[in-house]
Amino acid sequence: MTSPVAQALNVSGIDAYYGDSHVLHGVSFALEEGHLLGLLGRNGAGKTTCLAAIMGFLKPRRGAINLFGDEIAGLAPETIAHRGIGLVPQGRRVFRSLTVRENLSVAQQRRARAGTRKEWTFERVYTIFPRLKEREQQLAGSLSGGEQQMLAIGRALMGNPRILLMDEPSEGLAPQIVAEVGRTIALLKSEGLSIILVEQNIKLTLDLADDVVIINTGRIAFDGSAEAVKRDHDLVAQQLGVF
Ligand SMILES: Nc1ncnc2c1ncn2[C@@H]1O[C@H](COP(=O)(O)OP(=O)(O)OP(=O)(O)O)[C@@H](O)[C@H]1O
Ligand SMILES: [Mg+2]
Repeated sequence: MTSPVAQALNVSGIDAYYGDSHVLHGVSFALEEGHLLGLLGRNGAGKTTCLAAIMGFLKPRRGAINLFGDEIAGLAPETIAHRGIGLVPQGRRVFRSLTVRENLSVAQQRRARAGTRKEWTFERVYTIFPRLKEREQQLAGSLSGGEQQMLAIGRALMGNPRILLMDEPSEGLAPQIVAEVGRTIALLKSEGLSIILVEQNIKLTLDLADDVVIINTGRIAFDGSAEAVKRDHDLVAQQLGVF
C-alpha cells in the first residue's frame, strides 16, 4: 500500500493488559510524519496506557507497532527511546533532587539516525525556554509547575526524538502557562517533529492537531481530522462529555 505521506508511527490492533485486566482492545491509529495527532478521551480511557505500550513499558499481547517502517512492539524501553521516541510523561516526573541542567544532562542522547534536523543541545533547549537557563543550577523540585513542564519537555528533546509523545502537558497549569506550552508545541511541530499529544484540554488539542483519535474504554471511538471534530459537537459531547 502506498500513502502520500510517510508514516512516522503505526499502531495496529494492540491489546494490552494490566495483569488480568484487559485495558486496550484492538487499538489502531497512525501518526503521519510531521503531523500532530491529538489523542483525546475521558479519565481512565486508556490514553496513558497507549503511550506505555508504544514506549515498551507495557508489552502488548497482540498487535504491531511500527516506527518509520521498523517493528518495535516488545522491544525494551531503552531500545525504543534510542530508536527515537521521546516521552513527556503525565505529571512531568522531573528528577526533583537534581538541578535543571542535570535533568537535561541525564537525558542527553546522540541522534538515533543522521537526518537533516538539528541536534538538540542545552543552548537550543534554553533558547526555547529562557527561564530554564536562568534556573540552570536550581533543583528541579523547587521549580513551579509550569517550569517543571518546560523541563520535562526539554528533557525529552535532549534525547533527540524523531517522534514526541506528550501526556497531558497542560494538566494543572494556569491558563497563561497552558498558552505558553501550546506555543512551544506549535514551534516544535513547525520544526518538523511528529507529535502525539494526549490531552483533556480539547480546545488546546483542536488548536494544534492535524488529526484526532478519541479513545473510549480502551477502544477507538473516532479517528479523523481535527476539522471534523471541530464541526461535530455531538461527537464531542457524547465521547468527551463537554459542550
Ligand atoms: N498500573 C496499573 N495497574 C492496573 N490498572 C491500571 C494501571 N494503570 C492504569 N490502569 C487502568 O487502566 C485503565 C486506563 O488507564 P490510563 O491511565 O491509560 O487512562 P488515561 O486515559 O490515561 O486516564 P487519565 O486521563 O486519567 O490520565 C483505567 O481503568 C486504569 O484504572
Ligand atoms: Mg493518563
